[in-house]
Amino acid sequence: YQEKTLAGQHWLLTAGPTREAIDPVRYISNHSSGKMGYAIARAAVNAGARVTLISGPVNLTPPQGCRVIQVNSALEMHQQAMALAPKASVFVACAAVADYRLADVATQKIKKTADDMVLKLVKNPDIVADVAALSQRPFTVGFAAETQDVEQYARGKLSRKKLDLIAANDVAREGQGFNSEDNALTVFSADSATEIALANKQQVASQLVTIINQAYQAKNSS
Ligand code: PMT
Repeated sequence: YQEKTLAGQHWLLTAGPTREAIDPVRYISNHSSGKMGYAIARAAVNAGARVTLISGPVNLTPPQGCRVIQVNSALEMHQQAMALAPKASVFVACAAVADYRLADVATQKIKKTADDMVLKLVKNPDIVADVAALSQRPFTVGFAAETQDVEQYARGKLSRKKLDLIAANDVAREGQGFNSEDNALTVFSADSATEIALANKQQVASQLVTIINQAYQAKNSS
């Protein structure tokens, strides 16, 4: 028996990488496996929430009892998040969204003729910042994947993107972060910092869900 502490809540999550097409056979992406985001989805389902997971391309079995919306690009993820977020209670942005996409996607496979090649990139919309800016906004939680000055950059993203919480992920450390089994996080609000020690991503996810729910309940009762 597990207490259904999130009964009545709708959690919307993003997970995994995005793929930004270069031509019909190539893309730009990153090392996100989706494990962290899928673990959060599973933990939220176990705690009784209705969960919708907007997932980039990953090789994982979706958690049982959660609705999965598959996307490829940042623009597709953005579109789904903006459509669903106004009705969500909590939004958690765990996806490693590509910050840039190709200015022009080639319609045919690019041929290997030139000795060098320049790809022009344009900025993608910031999904978590756009969700946080909605007039009807869910409790909004971001991640910050950093290789240096973790707290400073994480706090910068917390305030710039107007988030309620941010989970800082030091991805320079061995054995945690992108595509690993384990993770460790520090969760910052404007006036607090909570450590989640290195553990399996599923254990980290359950602790994170508890921390998010406490902050969500505190905000709603104030
Ligand atoms: O998937 P795994 O292999 O399990 O790895 C987990 C993880 C390392 C990917 C995860 O723990 C993590 O840190 N996710 C955030 C990765 C990231 O892109 O961080 P960022 O610091 O670049 O982005 C900051 C925040 O803005 C994130 O919440 C991100 O989802 C969001 N963002 C970023 C760019 C963009 N265009 N839209 C966004 O919503």
